Amino acid sequence: MNIAPAIRKLSDYPKLNQDQLEVIGHTDGPLLVIAGPGTGKTFVIILRALNTLLLGKAEPREMVLCTFTEKAAFEMRDRLNAAAREIKVDDDFDLSELHISTIHSLCNTLLRKYRHKTSLGHNYETLDDLTQILFILEHFDEIIGDDYGVLGVQYQKGRYFSRWDSKRRAIEGAKEYFNKITEELIDSEQLILSGDRFLSAIGRAYRAYQTCLFNENRVDFAHLQSLVYNLLLNEPDVADEIASSIRYILIDEYQDTNYIQEQLLLKLISHTNNICVVGDDDQS
Ligand SMILES: Nc1ncnc2c1ncn2[C@@H]1O[C@H](COP(=O)(O)OP(=O)(O)O)[C@@H](O)[C@H]1O
Ligand SMILES: [Mg+2]
Repeated sequence: MNIAPAIRKLSDYPKLNQDQLEVIGHTDGPLLVIAGPGTGKTFVIILRALNTLLLGKAEPREMVLCTFTEKAAFEMRDRLNAAAREIKVDDDFDLSELHISTIHSLCNTLLRKYRHKTSLGHNYETLDDLTQILFILEHFDEIIGDDYGVLGVQYQKGRYFSRWDSKRRAIEGAKEYFNKITEELIDSEQLILSGDRFLSAIGRAYRAYQTCLFNENRVDFAHLQSLVYNLLLNEPDVADEIASSIRYILIDEYQDTNYIQEQLLLKLISHTNNICVVGDDDQS
């Protein structure tokens, strides 16, 4: 355990317990912290970031702090600045250079920088939850097309999936499947060849959806991540450049992280493995 004197002096602001001190002072290598809500997990991540800076282990621009929502990211920045003022380190570092964001925004930042190495064109447009639905509606015939019959039928195989008996439900259902396929890195070719009518139809619809997306230079939230993941996988020089610019990654709300995000984070931190993830244990 390695704790900077400035943080040690904090012992009564607020009172850090031994477990919290261990997390703050564990500086190198991977660390997983699971604790209940309200136990000070976000607080500990913030002090861990400041401790790492105070010990001179990284510059602010070499640290990435991620959380699940934009709101939580703003809050984290506020709380970090407040803690920095309390410890009186806010003049020593340019804390605005810390990367504090959601994983989606982090991917968006990386894509803007390395877009020319991906299939995305200049000024690509990002679809959010609502505009993604409108996009599928707009391209319904191209995406779902003749498979509407197959997809509209109640699908049962040990499990009830959904009954897409209206166009609206077909669109919402397809969107869920599309995002899952992207986020779980499922090979759509395998779906098409699965021999299962429903899965084949979903695989074909997914392919058609991707074609429409990229033809129109759009990207959805899930593809923001898969594009960066594939960039890291297929462009070793880029992967190396990015990984060598990051010394520490700290992830809050880790319980909400999906498969592709986890794979992505591991690639981003592959040079140092200084990754600390903190999450809730009560999954409701
Ligand atoms: N050691 C501590 N002593 C006093 N208050 C603490 C301590 N650790 C955390 N807190 C306070 O408890 C509240 C919840 O902390 P937070 O980091 O948001 O928890 P979590 O992220 O686990 O939900 C915050 O107001 C925080 O400042
Ligand atoms: Mg928290």
